[in-house]
Amino acid sequence: MQRILVVGAGAMGSQIAMVCALAGYDTTVTDVADEALDRATSQLHARLDRDVAKGRRTREDVDAAFARLTFSTDVDAAAAAADLVIEAALEKLEVKREVFARLDKISPAHTILTTNSSAIMSSQLADATGRADRVANMHFFNPALVMRCVEVVGSSATSDATMEAVTELARSLGKEPVVLHKEIPGFVANRILGAVRDEAIFLLENGIATVEDIDTACRTALGYPMGPFELMDLTGIEIGYHAKLARHAVSGDPRDLPSRTVTELVERGDLGRKTGKGFYTYDESGDRT
Ligand code: 3HC
Repeated sequence: MQRILVVGAGAMGSQIAMVCALAGYDTTVTDVADEALDRATSQLHARLDRDVAKGRRTREDVDAAFARLTFSTDVDAAAAAADLVIEAALEKLEVKREVFARLDKISPAHTILTTNSSAIMSSQLADATGRADRVANMHFFNPALVMRCVEVVGSSATSDATMEAVTELARSLGKEPVVLHKEIPGFVANRILGAVRDEAIFLLENGIATVEDIDTACRTALGYPMGPFELMDLTGIEIGYHAKLARHAVSGDPRDLPSRTVTELVERGDLGRKTGKGFYTYDESGDRT
């Protein structure tokens, strides 16, 4: 495995691509628009410059990683050369199925196609391709440069060889692979996180405590690095919203629908840090106001 394609240069895709480049892989990250690639480039430079300034990485390692990382809008050219693809595009089933069908047509026969989704399982994408045995989920966590867990999940059609290759890749990226034995929407970590989130929203919507106090309780009583509302603002409130809709589409269970509070925020476009407002508000340098 030498060449990796990451489809989607959002917060997750761009950091996943940098993780791959830092680990020595020739990596291309693609997006539909140049603006998304420009934003990803400048955010990654700012983030890694900070790591160098703080002595966490050397300038040489960072420069070498950027030299291995290509930003492109030409997904076809990158797919034609890729040994493995990590799709990190929109959390919408139809979009992902189209992306997988196209990747399947263009990528070499040996190429493994993975998705970073935890809400959309590879069994929902595999039949859009002619290579169901080489399709799996490879699920990173936000911020992908920092969080060590990667969940590796196959459908009943995924081959053992694919599972081993993806697990080995996760290890070579310096991550801790967690291999699921069966598919379940949300996988392990997000199901546990979702239960915490649902309870936090329940407490908020019932007027039991404020956003700030619920977050403080999670940090100071439970030792969480961030409270559930801070975390939703970090990851993007619409991510959890779409994940819930996707889960509801599979389960039909009304308890899987997004909450009133989250729906209102998404409809207003208050998506968290990236829009300057979510459960909290942020100034231009990203600090909470
Ligand atoms: N990108 C990259 N690195 C980041 C970062 C980001 N967005 N935010 C913080 N960091 C790194 C930086 O190196 C930072 O140091 P610096 O500010 O000196 O450069 C370092 O982490 C420490 O950051 P902070 O001092 O601001 O804060 P913390 O010590 O709290 O660490 C954190 C930040 C690592 C994000 C930590 O708060 C944490 O672990 N939070 C929980 C994250 C989490 O639960 N992630 C899972 C989300 S669910 C998910 O991803 C599912 C998926 O399906 C969407």
